[in-house]
Amino acid sequence: MNNVGHAETARSAPAVVVGIDGPSGTGKSSTSKAVAAKLGLRYLDTGAQYRAITWWMLTNGIDVNDAVAVAEAAGKPEVVSGTDPSAPTITVDGADAAGPIRTQEVTAAVSAVSAVPEVRTRLTELQRAIAAEAPDGIVVEGRDIGTTVLPDADLKIFLTASPEARAARRSGELGGKDATDLAGTQAALIKRDAADSGRKTSPLAKAGDAVEVDTTELTLDQVVECVVTLVEEKRSA
Ligand code: DC
Repeated sequence: MNNVGHAETARSAPAVVVGIDGPSGTGKSSTSKAVAAKLGLRYLDTGAQYRAITWWMLTNGIDVNDAVAVAEAAGKPEVVSGTDPSAPTITVDGADAAGPIRTQEVTAAVSAVSAVPEVRTRLTELQRAIAAEAPDGIVVEGRDIGTTVLPDADLKIFLTASPEARAARRSGELGGKDATDLAGTQAALIKRDAADSGRKTSPLAKAGDAVEVDTTELTLDQVVECVVTLVEEKRSA
């Protein structure tokens, strides 16, 4: 996917498309943002888009467990993602959704909504359009980027980490009461991963040509360094 546009000749490196997949708590967002910022690329959080549609369903009285109702409504909300890695944004029908999409209510409902094929088709099209418009390239994070959304990505990374490390990281991010409820956080993560990996339409999966990076024993800086090196190797190949 090295789309070389006419402005390309003035740039030192060709556009590069990087897909970063993996389960929750592996450091996908922090890694993706930092890699994009370091390399001057755009950044897209596809999980935030699934959360945004889920938030819209909840606030518009759609039963998220009714796949037919979710499918019928899938085309209604307008989701807009800002792709600056230092200040990513997300709006739904013009309203800032960055806060509401991180609530427990949305987290508990997002796997059901994202299993509905009509929701996936809609967001996959949107994600491809955003990636195609990124002039210097983009880092796209999610669950099915390497397998479905951008199968021709220049580089595919699949991040993993032990369930304990993932729960500890997620608890730390949530803060407050949840910071002490490690076992509960771990159980919720495992449940969501099982739903995301088990669904029929583009489940969470490692692409055959993805590079797997186990982040359990690595610091964020080490993971970022590793991915940046892999991108630079691809660029110079
Ligand atoms: O990355 P996250 O935890 O914010 O993602 C929220 C949910 O969205 C996740 O549980 C599954 C879904 N998702 C998806 O199905 N496909 C993607 N490409 C990204 C996220």
